[in-house]
Amino acid sequence: MEVVILKSADEVAVYAAKLVGVLLKLRPDAVLGLATGSTPQALYRRLVTDYREGKISFKDVTTFNLDEYLGVAPDNPQSYRSYMNRELFDLIDIDKQNTFLPACKEDENPREVGQRYEEHIQSAGGINLQILGIGANGHIGFNEPSSSLGSRTRVKTLTQQTFHDNSRLFSSDEFQPTLAITMGITSIMEARKILLLATGAGKADAVGRMIEGPITAMCPASILQMHERVTVLLDEQAAAQLQNRDYYDWTWLQNESLKKRFGVPDDS
Ligand code: F6R
Repeated sequence: MEVVILKSADEVAVYAAKLVGVLLKLRPDAVLGLATGSTPQALYRRLVTDYREGKISFKDVTTFNLDEYLGVAPDNPQSYRSYMNRELFDLIDIDKQNTFLPACKEDENPREVGQRYEEHIQSAGGINLQILGIGANGHIGFNEPSSSLGSRTRVKTLTQQTFHDNSRLFSSDEFQPTLAITMGITSIMEARKILLLATGAGKADAVGRMIEGPITAMCPASILQMHERVTVLLDEQAAAQLQNRDYYDWTWLQNESLKKRFGVPDDS
């Protein structure tokens, strides 16, 4: 794992956007795995700015989102489809026909939707770069603690903690779902490169367990220790509980000077 600790959430967004930009230069038709939630909003704002300034284009990009609520129609402002349109897709030059979420219509079987989503990702060539956030309980996507580390896209019940954490986004008279279809842990692990962003003190405990704890289904993000190409971008607050901090800073400095000398590896 490459652990990069930056001063602020804003720096995390700038750095993450730079990495996305490097990938899109190398591979304009990249397949991106995308996350929703509060954390990537600053990244998406940055990407929109870079697009408006002519630095990047999403014309040939395909995207697959990690998850979508079950029982929330795509045109509902609370759906992750609406979130993605609002935060990114409506603001860049992406062809929306090439943007996908694991949405399940009322008359569809969620199990089949999950299976088709997996096949669809494969037929698009797999994910070049997967963006992840992390839940305060260590979830990635909506793979809650105790999710099978071998799981694939399927229905998951949100934990009470996740339900509570997300309640800030729903008004009291709005339906708040307890179920979602999410890419599984194995589906996420198949991405060629993973970029996990975590900011704020509320993530410090989960980040510590993900990076320095044992690999366990009770902290699904800990499985990322098994992935060859993961970069974890943290702000100071999210990094606060790391024991091995000096080493991460030292390694990052060495890596940056290697990149300056030899260029960024083409891991697309
Ligand atoms: C959302 C997702 C979740 C979030 C996580 C953190 O698509 O997959 O795993 O990344 O719940 O959410 P925020 O960023 O709102 O703290």
